[in-house]
Amino acid sequence: MIKKILDTSTLDKELLVRLDTYIDSLEGNKREHLIHVLHHAQGLFGYLPQNLQLYIARKLNLSGAEVNGVVTFYSFFNEKPVGKYTISVCMGTACYVKGADKVLARVLENVGVNKNEISKDGLFTVKDVRCIGACGLAPVMTVNGKVYGKVTPTDVDDILRHYRSIENENK
Ligand code: FES
Repeated sequence: MIKKILDTSTLDKELLVRLDTYIDSLEGNKREHLIHVLHHAQGLFGYLPQNLQLYIARKLNLSGAEVNGVVTFYSFFNEKPVGKYTISVCMGTACYVKGADKVLARVLENVGVNKNEISKDGLFTVKDVRCIGACGLAPVMTVNGKVYGKVTPTDVDDILRHYRSIENENK
C-alpha cells in the first residue's frame, strides 16, 4: 500500500497550531469527532484542501480516504476556496421535478461562473447539492445556509441583488 506523503508547507502554521489545540481538547475517542474537527478546520482555513484532510487523518488515526469520504459526502464541506456566499441549489428529486435545473441555470448565469468556481468579485460560489430535507418548499436554494423555498428564476435575481446590495452598503 502506498502511504501518501503529508506536505503541510502550504498551510498556515498558526492555524495548524489552533487546530491542534482544538483536537487535543477533545475527549474520548478522537476518531468519533471527525465531523466536528472538519467543521472547525473549515472555519479556520475557509476550506479543506487535500493536505489538510491528510493532516487531520493522521491526527485522528484515520486513513486519508476515510476523511475524504466524509468531506465529499457532506455538501457543506469545501475542498476548494469559496466565495463569501455559498449558494447551494438542491437537485434532489422533489426540487428537480419543480424546476431546480432552471433555478441553477439562472444562478450560474447571474453570477457568471461554473459550478464550484468563485465569482470574479469573490462574493459567490455556486454548488448543486443533494436533498437538504426541505422538500415541501421545493425548489430550494440556500445562501450560506439561509433557506429560500419555492424559488423561481426571477426570485434568483432578487435574492442575488439583495446580497450584492449588502456588500455595496458595507463598502
Ligand atoms: S429534494 Fe430538494 S429539499 Fe428535498
